[in-house]
Amino acid sequence: MPQQAGPLGALALEDAFVALTDGVLVTGPDDRIASANPAAFRLLGEDQLVGRELDELLLVSGAATVQKTDGHLVRRAWFPREERMGVLEIVSTEITGRVGWIHTVRDVTSQAELLRLKEDFLLQVAHELRSPITALIASLDLVVQDALSMPRDELERMVGTLQRSALRLENLVENLLDAGSIEAGTFQVRTTPTTVRHALEEALLFVGPHLEARGQRMVSDIPPNADRVLADPRRTGQVLANLIMNASKYGPEGGTVTVMARPKGGAVEVSVRDEGPGIPVDEQPRLFQRFYRSREAREAAGGLGLGLTISRAIVQAQGGDIGIESAAGQGTSVHFTLPKARELTQEAHRT
Ligand SMILES: Nc1ncnc2c1ncn2[C@@H]1O[C@H](COP(=O)(O)OP(=O)(O)O)[C@@H](O)[C@H]1O
Ligand SMILES: [Mg+2]
Repeated sequence: MPQQAGPLGALALEDAFVALTDGVLVTGPDDRIASANPAAFRLLGEDQLVGRELDELLLVSGAATVQKTDGHLVRRAWFPREERMGVLEIVSTEITGRVGWIHTVRDVTSQAELLRLKEDFLLQVAHELRSPITALIASLDLVVQDALSMPRDELERMVGTLQRSALRLENLVENLLDAGSIEAGTFQVRTTPTTVRHALEEALLFVGPHLEARGQRMVSDIPPNADRVLADPRRTGQVLANLIMNASKYGPEGGTVTVMARPKGGAVEVSVRDEGPGIPVDEQPRLFQRFYRSREAREAAGGLGLGLTISRAIVQAQGGDIGIESAAGQGTSVHFTLPKARELTQEAHRT
């Protein structure tokens, strides 16, 4: 009885082989390639495959076995791809009856890169956790030994170190949690009438000691007509803390950090400016990406590359925008907007 041709009736399995983006190869009992689809040629970067030994091909590219079970083999190999090296995963399955093997070849470069980014990130987290913990333990050791005999000012200094280390740890953990909730889409802010000055005070509790430690000065210019805003006070403090912290970390020792607020339409624009090395224009769009840190930044100071990501999420959730104005060697100015709060007089009129 003739088979009824469905909508795919004309399409044979062979056509599917040709159309696949994964490479498919068949090797015979002599381990030589009997057939290969176009993707296999493209992925392996070879013009000639039939008749060659696959194992030999893979050996040349330094393939490593990832998994090996009876009749099943997974290998990974490096191969040249446009400009960089890529990673291929080759899964080989023995055909029943031991007449040969079928192999699929897949480009897993992006998964491998993501994995590396994650590993780098974990290392960086561990590194960032270590210094405040080391400081905590060292200060606690001293306090435990000589708390009673210690001069009062020394004890105060010690407790100050303890507090700063604990705050740093808290900040680190909060940043990680925030990044998680931004990614999950559950990030929220609670806006209320407040002032830029208040947010700046909050920020300084955290960043003040850092500015002091690097001998930097903060200058603020917040006129009354650019102060009252509709924002989440704690979160806005967090944005300012992130931006001032960057200005301090990447700016020169003994330099000045300027915080300025100006009315701009129905909003207030706040800017944080430093005298640092600036950021090349081509790098600027990437700065708001999770975990992104420029090479210079990685050499200059610690960090997880989350500050700007979180700041942007906060600013946007409050109905504002954030942007960077910078050029190499020109310093950096990061500015963001906050909706203006209704004037007190207007509020009085409404009641
Ligand atoms: N004021 C600045 N001056 C120079 N580079 C900056 C400045 N602010 C941010 N950057 C760059 O943007 C990157 C991301 O900043 P951020 O998200 O705060 O992460 P982190 O400070 O942890 O590296 C930094 O690593 C740095 O490369
Ligand atoms: Mg930062």
